[in-house]
Amino acid sequence: MLARREFLRTSLLATGAAVCSKPQMLVAASASDSRIEILLDEPLGVISPNIYGHFTEHLGGVIYDGIWVGENSSVPNVNGIRKRLVDELRKIKAPVVRYPGGCFADSYDWRDGVGPADKRPRRTNFWGGTEANHFGTNEFVQFCSLAGAQPYLAANLRSLPAEEFYRWVEYCNSPAGSTTLADLRAASGSAEPFHVRFWGVGNESWGCGGNFTPQEYAVEYRRFVTWLPHYGKGQDLFLVASGPYSEDSSWTRGFFEELLRKGPDQLNSVDGLSVHHYAWNLSRGRTTDWDKGKGNSLEFEPVDWYELLREGQRMEEIIGNHWRALGEYDPQHRIKLVVDEWGPWYRPGSEATPGNQLEQIPTLRDAVFSAMTMDIFNRHQEKVAMANCAQLINCLNSLYLAHEDKFCVTPVGLVFGMYAAHQGGQSLRTVISAPPARYDRDGKTAAFWGLQGSASLRGKDLVLTVVNPHVSEPRETAIDLKGARVASASATTLSSTDIHAHNTFAEPAALVPQSEPLTLNGPAFTYVFPPASVTRLSLSLA
Ligand code: AHR
Repeated sequence: MLARREFLRTSLLATGAAVCSKPQMLVAASASDSRIEILLDEPLGVISPNIYGHFTEHLGGVIYDGIWVGENSSVPNVNGIRKRLVDELRKIKAPVVRYPGGCFADSYDWRDGVGPADKRPRRTNFWGGTEANHFGTNEFVQFCSLAGAQPYLAANLRSLPAEEFYRWVEYCNSPAGSTTLADLRAASGSAEPFHVRFWGVGNESWGCGGNFTPQEYAVEYRRFVTWLPHYGKGQDLFLVASGPYSEDSSWTRGFFEELLRKGPDQLNSVDGLSVHHYAWNLSRGRTTDWDKGKGNSLEFEPVDWYELLREGQRMEEIIGNHWRALGEYDPQHRIKLVVDEWGPWYRPGSEATPGNQLEQIPTLRDAVFSAMTMDIFNRHQEKVAMANCAQLINCLNSLYLAHEDKFCVTPVGLVFGMYAAHQGGQSLRTVISAPPARYDRDGKTAAFWGLQGSASLRGKDLVLTVVNPHVSEPRETAIDLKGARVASASATTLSSTDIHAHNTFAEPAALVPQSEPLTLNGPAFTYVFPPASVTRLSLSLA
């Protein structure tokens, strides 16, 4: 690594006068107190597209109104599925969608959601109200296929026997005509198997998924996965064990200790360990009460902005800790982490559609949070096989809000669009240094990192994404590509002078990313990242 003084000298020489269409680029490198070095010869491994996955649950307005509008709706739809949503998911290259929960999954009988729609039973939904079961396995798989995504199903371990897990796999994957369940699937219009590869074995089994101890869950897990139907070469299932909440590595250790009491081969029955982490406590240490600790999604002060990011930044340590714990049992690290629920969680009161449970309107703060989180996943691509933002539409960290014929892309959805360029790229070691962002925290100065991001390379396309979390200060940064020459470049930025900026049905384009071409004269240049921003630099290498 170059010493700072040498780096600055090199970048000045290389840039001469760096030229750019916007004044933010025109800064002498010597003025920069921040730097980014992209180590092109240090690839870390491929970023799984599945890191950019989604989560949908029978909860509030997610399925009904969000995804499913019904065949007879005046809202443009494809066989009852909201067309605008699948169009948007195609744009962001949605790789995988988790379903049907969440807590709902462990109360759900998959048989309720298959067969003729008018014969399906009505049930009490885990989240309250009546579940009409208009949307079930076939509709979900069709939704995924329209969106270009793979389905990831969560099985009910708390309240159904293991046999029903087995049968659900059979329903989805047995070849046409080979079983009674394949015939039932065909009668609903899907003769060919769904080839569902990703299966969660329960959800939050320490809580709503059964209140198990990790040892009890391990016993159940062994039983549920001891024999599952396989339908030929290349059709192996990817089984995700229900993992810990946030930092709780005693769950990870307890689960594997018990699982392995039956011998080391048991490790082969797990492909992924799920991890959930929500950023919800904005009380600045005043309480750990789940309701009292939460903040408001739309009304907040700069201190709340930083506190949310601080809660989200815990993700990096959470990944590291569970990875280390996993390594104690699986030193080869065959088993990966699956962060299948993540995002900010605010208190009720900012629903786009009044009455929608757990709906909140995401702002620029949530975009910055989401970008920061996806940069963490990119940097830890060898550990994280999949991640699923909670949730896709009309719930928590939604990418989209919809009600009847109204629809908007949230700042979170916009960031997913910007970060799709990383999918399948080689993650590159990237060294970033910047003075911290300082802020007032109840009369004391607190600090949060000043700049973070990630870089990836696919062929000659280099993508650098960067978050400047400072609510008011731009971050002038010397960027060093270690000798690589750039043929063409562009910058896309999501930012606003108002940190509360957000999109609504009435103003769906209040916040949109701005793109501009860049002219770079060398492998080292200076860029100014605006305050409260997410930036993607797309560099085509010569
Ligand atoms: O995403 C909402 C809920 O949060 C999920 O149902 C559950 O798994 C988690 O506690």
